[in-house]
Amino acid sequence: PALDQCYNLSDFEYVAKQVMRRTGWGYYSSGADDEITMRENRTAFHKIWFRPKILIDVEKIDMTTTMLGSKCSIPFYITATALGKLGHPEGETVLTRAAAQHGIIQMIPTLASCSFDEIVDAADGKQTQWFQLYVNKDRNITKRIVQHAEKRGCKGLFITVDAPQLGRREKDMRSKFADDGSNVQKGGDQDSIDRSQGAARAISSFIDPSLNWKDMPFFQEITKMPIVLKGVQRVDDVIKAVEHGMHGVVLSNHGGRQLDTAPTGIELLGEVMQELRARNLQDKIEVYIDGGVRRASDVVKAVCLGAKGVGIGRPFLYAMSAYGVPGVCRAIQLLKDEFEMNMRLIGANRIQDLTPDLVDTRGLHVH
Ligand code: FNR
Repeated sequence: PALDQCYNLSDFEYVAKQVMRRTGWGYYSSGADDEITMRENRTAFHKIWFRPKILIDVEKIDMTTTMLGSKCSIPFYITATALGKLGHPEGETVLTRAAAQHGIIQMIPTLASCSFDEIVDAADGKQTQWFQLYVNKDRNITKRIVQHAEKRGCKGLFITVDAPQLGRREKDMRSKFADDGSNVQKGGDQDSIDRSQGAARAISSFIDPSLNWKDMPFFQEITKMPIVLKGVQRVDDVIKAVEHGMHGVVLSNHGGRQLDTAPTGIELLGEVMQELRARNLQDKIEVYIDGGVRRASDVVKAVCLGAKGVGIGRPFLYAMSAYGVPGVCRAIQLLKDEFEMNMRLIGANRIQDLTPDLVDTRGLHVH
């Protein structure tokens, strides 16, 4: 199908499935075990209903906001997803160029197919990039890559905390990972890579499962970038993140790729914001969510419930794999068009107008 026949993010998934190679499709589309969490990431949004306001002057709509102090055109970012070259020969730089055109923030993964410097060099010099960190058992390696990311201008450090061991994604395991000639081994020891367990497991052996709260001061010593914990799944861990001086959390289950039947970010969000407000900590930390965001209405719902922004993963990989930069640009534009329309239809002019009273979450905990 032609690009202009894609009218929503699911259309890109449909096309990507037709055109991608099996390894790439297996790696991108899979979730852990029975994929219950992966499905719930999507359906949780359907349980939230709007409570639109009428007769508000909505001629002018302003969708701009800031995340970790950086401006962006709309409250979502391209989250970190490994192995971009399984979908497109130019890998993550495709996402970089599309993000630049649209004023969107991109999170660069530790396990990108392109080298970190290639991805930063592909940026236009004005756009914002963040860095996602998998912590190496060798802290000197971690220190070096974090400080390099800061030196090259990254504006946020996202430490992934939901993956002390990579989840079991059976679709991915079945398609057996063959070396794509990329850069992903930089974090580990090439010789020890076991390729029989799928792409994810092949590349993740260097990740340190002993990482814990006591390590947090180490990161605060080696960088001035704001630090965000990515993959928080409980209310009390959000409070701990505040106590440890973190700048943010991403309520996330890694796109349903780690612990199956882990809770969804959108489901936790209300509870988290309620607890932060009860302790008067709501201004001490920025709360993000990711997982299953496929419509701008999902973004609107999350912002209404208190998220500073949301991450979107697979849809941009699919748009990239199917159509390259123009595909990712169209995916972003579709979301912008939907977002503007949603704002008008619920009676909100600016991001600050998106408040909890605009959503009804009573259906959320009914499974
Ligand atoms: C991911 N994700 C991820 N997260 C991370 O911290 N480091 C990583 O290397 C990766 N790699 C990765 C690869 C692929 C193919 C996917 C789909 C996801 C998780 C990602 O950042 C995010 O949490 C989810 O993708 C959000 O869910 P959706 O938007 O894909 O539903």
